[in-house]
Amino acid sequence: MTDELQTESGADQVRVIYDPIADTPTSYLREPAGAHPPMDYEGYKSTALRHPKQPLIYLPQTITEITGPQLGPVLMGENDNDLTVQHGGEPIGERIVVSGRVFDTEGKPLRGTLVEIWQANSAGRYKHRWDRWPAPLDPNFSGAGRCITDDEGRYTFTTIKPGPYPWGNHYNAWRPAHIHFSLLGRAFTQRLVTQMYFPGDPFFAYDPIFNSVRDPKARERMVSSFSIHDTVPNWAHAYHFDIYLRGPGATPFEEAH
Ligand SMILES: [Fe+2]
Repeated sequence: MTDELQTESGADQVRVIYDPIADTPTSYLREPAGAHPPMDYEGYKSTALRHPKQPLIYLPQTITEITGPQLGPVLMGENDNDLTVQHGGEPIGERIVVSGRVFDTEGKPLRGTLVEIWQANSAGRYKHRWDRWPAPLDPNFSGAGRCITDDEGRYTFTTIKPGPYPWGNHYNAWRPAHIHFSLLGRAFTQRLVTQMYFPGDPFFAYDPIFNSVRDPKARERMVSSFSIHDTVPNWAHAYHFDIYLRGPGATPFEEAH
């Protein structure tokens, strides 16, 4: 492996630089270009401040990944995956069930994966001290939930459909309605973050975060599908969102923030 790496000599150090071609195992199916958002994307202004300015340093996988801090059995609260019953009353908005399965590269379902979500309320407002735009907070909605995938890799959340919200990226910038997803494997080093969107959102064409995933087919993999089969009569409508961790059909992931 060492002779496949390039070195970069600086005035005071020698840095080992990751070579994305030579260091990609042949058995690993690399996602096509544009499948994941770039770390620096011109239309998404704040990426200019948080992307690395230096080449990435190759960190070979070691046993630390499994001996380091690991998720033990996660104690789930009774209402952790139902965001509509976490307070004294019912939140305002469209009640929805969001469910799907988590798959590894070969389509193998992943059980025991911690799936966490966070989202704005139905008016598009986060319960967060930095979110000050004039939309109402909902005293019955916090917007955070979590769930462990079952033996079939399945997760389910009951929640309220989030509203779109404005953000300061450019004039008249609005985010399409979305739910943030975080997935944790067995170790804290195995965290992936993405956003789930809703079909037919009129803001798709104008959102630089959505469009920072340049491959249109990869963008489609971030959009949930309406499911009449999982819609609960007289109670909640339903959306499906399957997550593929790797490979050509991978769900686009972003830097955690
Ligand atoms: Fe958001």
